Amino acid sequence: MTYNLVMIGFGAVGQGFAALLQNKAAELADRYGFQAKIIGVYTRRASLFCPDGLAIPALLAAAQQNDLTAYADHANLRRDLNAHYQITHPATSAVIEASLTNYVDAEPALGHIRTAFSHSKHVVTVNKGPIALAYGELAANARRSKCFFGYEGVVMGGTPCIRLAEAGLAGARIEAVRGIVNGTTNFILGKMEAGMAYAEALAEAQRLGYAEADPTADVEGFDAAGKIVILATLLFGAKLTVADVDRTGITQISMSDVQNALAAGQRWKLIASLQREKTENGERVLAKVSPERLPLSDPLAGIGGGGNAITYLTDTIGGVTLTGAGAGGKATGFAVLADLLAMHARYGN
Ligand SMILES: NC(=O)c1ccc[n+]([C@@H]2O[C@H](COP(=O)([O-])OP(=O)(O)OC[C@H]3O[C@@H](n4cnc5c(N)ncnc54)[C@H](OP(=O)(O)O)[C@@H]3O)[C@@H](O)[C@H]2O)c1
Repeated sequence: MTYNLVMIGFGAVGQGFAALLQNKAAELADRYGFQAKIIGVYTRRASLFCPDGLAIPALLAAAQQNDLTAYADHANLRRDLNAHYQITHPATSAVIEASLTNYVDAEPALGHIRTAFSHSKHVVTVNKGPIALAYGELAANARRSKCFFGYEGVVMGGTPCIRLAEAGLAGARIEAVRGIVNGTTNFILGKMEAGMAYAEALAEAQRLGYAEADPTADVEGFDAAGKIVILATLLFGAKLTVADVDRTGITQISMSDVQNALAAGQRWKLIASLQREKTENGERVLAKVSPERLPLSDPLAGIGGGGNAITYLTDTIGGVTLTGAGAGGKATGFAVLADLLAMHARYGN
């Protein structure tokens, strides 16, 4: 079966996905009977649409120049169409939302996803805003429209922490979650263990592209808080916002804290956690982001560099820990591909 994809956003993740689709085309067709064309790309600065399909190598070459408008003309190519037109076009089968995350109102991605479901288009999003702010509504829209809704890439990039919880651990009850879900802070803490001062480690993270020019979202724990809120929503059905998270970043961790922990055979890690707590009326979910001093026996203690990991504590088989890349265009592009294959498995026949 061939799917026609419209991509909103074509940055690191969009390009990572497009390259995978190109490189794995023969394998995907052979192993899964899955074929896909990118028929539309819509970004702030460019719009390309051709129901016959866009040429992925030319798209990637234009994106490498940071100018999608450099994509060469060909028959049936349109450059004047807005996102709504592309999403709702009869040829479109699925929409990939890979534009920038906005935790304030999730727009314009939220509108894109609503439009897609109201026109019976499948959706895969790596954009965290719509999941953090409107997951319940969007999941209901998807069910009503009998459409697929994929969001594996919103937490831990391509490492399938959501699919593990939703499918692999089906039948077990997850009692608590503990994770390293922000690679930047893990990288900085690792450098501090190696003797680098905080400011120097942050500068190195910025130089390598791990950290933004304004690192607040990472080092103050907001990014981790957004992700733990998403997991609370997806795994526990909790209605939390980032403001509900008991949040502390890593800026107060000193070099001597790090070195003292090391001398005691321990490591500081920024841990995002969820814990179910019984109340008179039922239960509530406590969400926290905070630096913790972990013994080396904790599976999260060994996660180095920009890595991510998550431990699900279950009622049935105890703790299950998943480790992998938490970010990166290729890794998160893989999450898009995995979601599309899940869509194909469910709707492809
Ligand atoms: N990178 C990762 O490792 C990672 C991991 C997990 C999740 N994510 C999420 O994935 C999404 C994409 O990340 P990225 O790293 O690919 O970002 P990026 O490299 O900065 O690219 C962002 C893309 O979104 C487009 N865009 C921005 N605002 C838009 C708007 N209002 N309408 C349409 N397009 C818009 C940009 O277009 P212009 O270039 O024309 O402005 C660009 O093509 C984000 O939501 C991010 O949080 C990323």
